[in-house]
Amino acid sequence: MPFPFVISATEGRARTGVLKTARGDIRTPAFMPVGTAATVKAMTVDQVKATGADILLGNTYHLMLRPGPERMERLGGLHRFMGWDKPILTDSGGFQVMSLAGISKVKEEAVTFSSHIDGSKHVLTPERSIEIQADRIGADISMQLDQCVSWPAEKPAAQKAMELSIRWGARSKARFGEREHQALFGIQQGSTFEDLRRQSSEQLQEIGFDGYAIGGLAVGEGHQAMCEVLDYAPEFLPKDRPRYLMGVGKPVDLVEAVYRGVDMFDCVLPTRAGRHGQAWTWDGPLNLKNARFAEDEDPLDPTIDGPSSQYSKAYLHHLIRADEILGKVLLSWHNIAFYQALTAAMRAAISEGRFEQFRRDFHVRHTSNG
Ligand code: GUN
Repeated sequence: MPFPFVISATEGRARTGVLKTARGDIRTPAFMPVGTAATVKAMTVDQVKATGADILLGNTYHLMLRPGPERMERLGGLHRFMGWDKPILTDSGGFQVMSLAGISKVKEEAVTFSSHIDGSKHVLTPERSIEIQADRIGADISMQLDQCVSWPAEKPAAQKAMELSIRWGARSKARFGEREHQALFGIQQGSTFEDLRRQSSEQLQEIGFDGYAIGGLAVGEGHQAMCEVLDYAPEFLPKDRPRYLMGVGKPVDLVEAVYRGVDMFDCVLPTRAGRHGQAWTWDGPLNLKNARFAEDEDPLDPTIDGPSSQYSKAYLHHLIRADEILGKVLLSWHNIAFYQALTAAMRAAISEGRFEQFRRDFHVRHTSNG
């Protein structure tokens, strides 16, 4: 395995530890800010770093369309291009094709799609996705190409996509080979069907990956249904490798997933919500547009370094109401800082054997605000 994963404490199914990469340690549970198009929207890399983020996520789909993989390679790869020297994980592209591209077609060999930017036609095979991620972008962690079904899914459709994802996983692994300083993660699929998730996990482990993701969740099924899948899905994956829940989620989703054995997360929610005036706090989400903040001189959270403690809610309210760029910047920054504070708090709680209590307190406080 290129990256040792050292679990330092467990409590029930929850774990905390460190994934040691060539570009630095990833402390788990970890939240990866999403840097879709070579930027965590509205934030500088120094601001992202100051929040305590150990790793960023990039997207093959966006970067292959713009600036293009070969140009990215000529510019020294994504780390150098965007000025981020810590680890980067890239998503493989298929999921973004489904959600963003114009007309797309999935066949055994490849997914073909038209760009959401200019309608140009593109082909993505499992092999090309790995080439772009590992060789052109220079990702520390690449993801296999997979197919995620929308929710709700009929079982035959979920099974077909899961089985195709296994074959694409094997092709991704064959193209990736064995690397000393880069890792490849497989992706479990199977929608809300326990036997499909079990079968997916077993076959992924036969191929052998450096880490394992849980895909196909947060696609409309809701918190409760997601938790029901997470009651079994992480347990099907190896205990000694990182487990990454893709595209999740709200703070409450993170707490419940960590409780069920998940180590890594990514989500656009903190930055997207921030751009729309929503701040995540220990007391739940706040809409800073609301008139009740117009003269509220308290900061969002005095315990978090950065804008969370530096500016009053009244000022943030004003910036958002006036549609000032700085409002989007400060709230994106606050939300990423809050997500990092949340994962840090979970790591500390698991280390100290009080995660169960943390989880109870979190729910009480987070849902009291309304
Ligand atoms: N992001 C959120 N869900 C998924 C998924 O199922 N597959 C991939 N590749 N990316 C995702």
